[in-house]
Order: sequence, then C-alpha cells, then structure tokens
Amino acid sequence: MTKASALIAAAGAGERLGRGINKVFVEVAGKPILAHTVSVFESCEAVEEIIIITGESDIEAADELVGRFGFAKVRHIVAGGAQRQDSVLNGLERATCEIITIHDAARPMVTVDMVDRSIAKAVEMGACIAAVPVIDTIKSAQDGIVAATVDRSFLYSVQTPQTFRADLLRSAYEQAYADGFYATDDAALVEQLGGKVAIVQGSYDNIKVTTPSDLHIAEVKLRASSREIDSERNVEMRTGIGFDVHKFADGRDLWLGGVKIDYEKGLMGHSDADVILHAVSDALLGAAGLGDIGRHFPDSDLAYKGISSLALLGRVNNLLAVDGWRVVNVDTVVICERPKIAPYIDQMRELISDVLDTVPDRISVKGTTTERLGFTGRGEGIACQAVAVIARS
Ligand code: CTP
Ligand code: MG
Repeated sequence: MTKASALIAAAGAGERLGRGINKVFVEVAGKPILAHTVSVFESCEAVEEIIIITGESDIEAADELVGRFGFAKVRHIVAGGAQRQDSVLNGLERATCEIITIHDAARPMVTVDMVDRSIAKAVEMGACIAAVPVIDTIKSAQDGIVAATVDRSFLYSVQTPQTFRADLLRSAYEQAYADGFYATDDAALVEQLGGKVAIVQGSYDNIKVTTPSDLHIAEVKLRASSREIDSERNVEMRTGIGFDVHKFADGRDLWLGGVKIDYEKGLMGHSDADVILHAVSDALLGAAGLGDIGRHFPDSDLAYKGISSLALLGRVNNLLAVDGWRVVNVDTVVICERPKIAPYIDQMRELISDVLDTVPDRISVKGTTTERLGFTGRGEGIACQAVAVIARS
C-alpha cells in the first residue's frame, strides 16, 4: 500500500466563529474539533504520518492534545503562516511520504472512508479533491441585479481532503511561489501548473466549521454518529474484563482515573501506576482480542517509564479504532479503604470519556471497600476491576 503524509491545516484565527480563540480548539460533542479531525486520520491505514500546522502560540496546546488523545502518528507540529497556503507550505517541508493528503482541521466530519478513497484516487491519478455537486440554483449578479443563471450541472462545492503525489504538489507550490500566485485551495496550484485534478465524492456533512451555526450542526452530527453504533443492525458487540493492583509507596503522587488525588502516598509502578486506567485498558484490549497492556507497553521499555496512563489509554483506543471498534461503555469498581474517590469521580469520567471518544454517561467509576479485610482493607494497595463493551459494524 502506498503510504501518505497527512497535513492538517489548523493555523487559522477562527475570526468568523467569534470565540476569540483558534476555532480548532473549540469543543464539539465532548472534544476539541482538532481531536475529532486528527482521530480520523490516525485511523486510516494508508496514513503513515500526521503533521499538524497550527499558530505559533497554539503549538503547546496542540502538543498537549496529541498526548492527551494518544495520537501516535503525529510526527510534527509546526507553525503556520499568514495565509492557509503558507501554512500548508510549512507542513509540506516536513512531509516524507509519496502521497500527501491535505485537510482542514476545521472539517471534523471527514470520514476514514473519504480519506481512503482520496488517497487511492491520488495514487491512480496524481491529484484529487473531495467535492459535492452544488444543490442550490446559482446566479451571478452585479449591484443586486441578476446577470445570469449559471448551469449548475458543472458546479461543485470543493472540500478537503485534497490529495496529491508529493512530487507534483511540490512542483505546484514552487511554481506558485515563483509566480506570487495565491489560491484558496491546494488543487488550484496544481491546476495552474496544468495538472489534471480528479474529483472524489465528498459529503454534504463534511462542512467546514466557520460560523456559530456550523458549530451547532457539527455538535448534532458528531453526537449522532457516536450514538449510531447502538441503533445499527449487524453490529458486532464484544465484552472484556480487566483487573489491576498497585501497592502504596511513600513519596509518589497518587493518580487515579487520570486525576491527581490529594493523598499522603501514591502507588508504585513503572508508569504513573494509575490502577483504574490500567484495568480499563486491559478490559478494552481484552474485548478486542488484542492481549493486554503488558504486551503493548512493556515495563522493560524505557519509553513508558513515568508515562501518563491517559496517553496509554489513548493509544489503546487507537489500536481498537484501527480494527473498527468503538467503545459502548466501561464500568469500573475501585477497591480501597482510603482515599475516598467520590469527589473525583465526575472528573475521571470526563477525562476517560474524552480519551475514548465517547461521553461521560458511558463511563462509570465506583468505589468500594473490603470492610478492612485483605490487602486493600489493610491499606497496602488499591485494586480495580473493569468491564468494557465495544462494538463495530
Ligand atoms: N488555516 C491555516 N492557516 C491559515 C489560515 C487558515 O492553517 N493562515 C486553516 C484553518 O485553521 C482551517 C482551514 O485552514 O482549518 C480553513 O480556513 P478557515 O475556515 O478560513 O479558518 P480560519 O482562518 O481559522 O477562520 P476565519 O477565516 O474565520 O478566521
Ligand atoms: Mg480564514
């Protein structure tokens, strides 16, 4: 399979949305727009590397987002330029694959299927854009008076992804900068060079979140797509179980469910020893028949020393996504005498659901004691049990 570099253009100001921040960091359906978008590319088999191009002052936030969601394919986060075209150029300099697929971060409703088709078409034809036929009647006008009715059978609304053979795209960019030519999409530069650009079918749902009303549409659509799995026929459902124990140790922070707990000691372990997230990870991997966290993130690998278990859980979610799985729900029981976890439960559910691309309602965390019996009763450690249900259609 020919591999592709994905350039995610996320360096705009988001002025028309009017939130006073780069719109790709605005939350929709429980997570930032950028996270929705990157997770689609992360799940595409043909995408080997992802390069996020964002504002200089947003690089740190993008880096945090990549860690939080465990996006393993993101190779670079680079600063953009004044125009979208300048931003893409900065990403292009870092891309290493034969095929380059470019996408607006502000189009979170892109699908894995659309990206796959776009990459396949670019391999075949050299250049392609996602587009949909124009639905409305289109007229040209001057000073408020109609000049003509345009034959719409030739007209398309153009979207991203736009995908190209890397050598062709590089020549087009070089020529455009030599000529001082600016355009609003990448294909226009290839057209300027005389290159043939094919159309692959986009989707009317693949909107670019631009105005506040777009945000509302995206919220409804993205929430609906996360609910779809429950109502679909021919859904394959699986369940998995996870269990983990860590011993208390002095001088360590206590991390549970991704939250730093205020307590006199922490848990011992190679990573942050987050016993809840480890049990959840094992339940998910078990459900998908993918082994356990020890297999994917071995203790012997220094790369995982002290690593945030939320990042590990994000990677587990990606492993599942590659096989088409989505999380239906997760339930956990945390077994310890102290500390009391109740005050932290809502925050844990929020963090876990964020990483698992779902909503807090589907994640449950409960605490219990063992009536002072056993090692948990004696306060020597914490145990956690988890069950997970996953689905794919
Ligand atoms: N973009 C970019 N670099 C720029 C301008 C835009 O990478 N200099 C990106 C945006 O982040 C967005 C996509 O290109 O994902 C499409 O641009 P647009 O919808 O215009 O986004 P903004 O420029 O952020 O919005 P606005 O024009 O309302 O400020
Ligand atoms: Mg703009």
